[in-house]
Amino acid sequence: MKPSSVLRVLPVSCVLFAMASVVPGMTTVAVAGEEAHKVAVQDFRSHCASCHGWGGAGNGPVADVLKVRPPDLTRIAHRNGGTFPAYVIYKSIEGTSMPLAHGTTQMPVWGLWFTYQEVADSLLTGDTKPVDEKVAKRINGIVAYLESIQE
Ligand code: HEC
Repeated sequence: MKPSSVLRVLPVSCVLFAMASVVPGMTTVAVAGEEAHKVAVQDFRSHCASCHGWGGAGNGPVADVLKVRPPDLTRIAHRNGGTFPAYVIYKSIEGTSMPLAHGTTQMPVWGLWFTYQEVADSLLTGDTKPVDEKVAKRINGIVAYLESIQE
């Protein structure tokens, strides 16, 4: 995050913090958000950084051997005229609408991969939450993380 964005976010965080101490339930929401962010960072590092780079700049160790270079994920908004296209990015990660201009995609279909992982997790833990909701939550977390690293 640029120092200027930190300054913009700081007062909001202070207000939220102050509210959290008076409004019951507010802390739970904040903690849930923090937890989702942690999961997203973990997902990014273990599933995306090899190609897109630790910080998302497109310079992961695998990038050099790919036919199509992984794009710099910190400049998505920049390439899109200043707005972050959250829905399009969600679909790219899920793997159902990756732009196929080059005729092929070098990017794994994460929607499927996360579905397999979540099905296995449900079987192992007995968690009965719908798998598609758990997958959507994970992808949404990654989308929010990517939005937060825009330059
Ligand atoms: C095997 C390498 C590889 C891995 C791992 C990978 N990607 Fe990609 N990604 C690519 C490539 C290459 C492209 C360019 C599109 C293509 O495949 O033709 C791309 C494109 C994208 C795009 C579209 C960017 C844009 O500007 O439209 C997004 C978003 C993205 N990746 C996110 C992710 C996320 C999130 C993960 C981890 C869950 C991930 N990628 C893992 C190789 C990878």
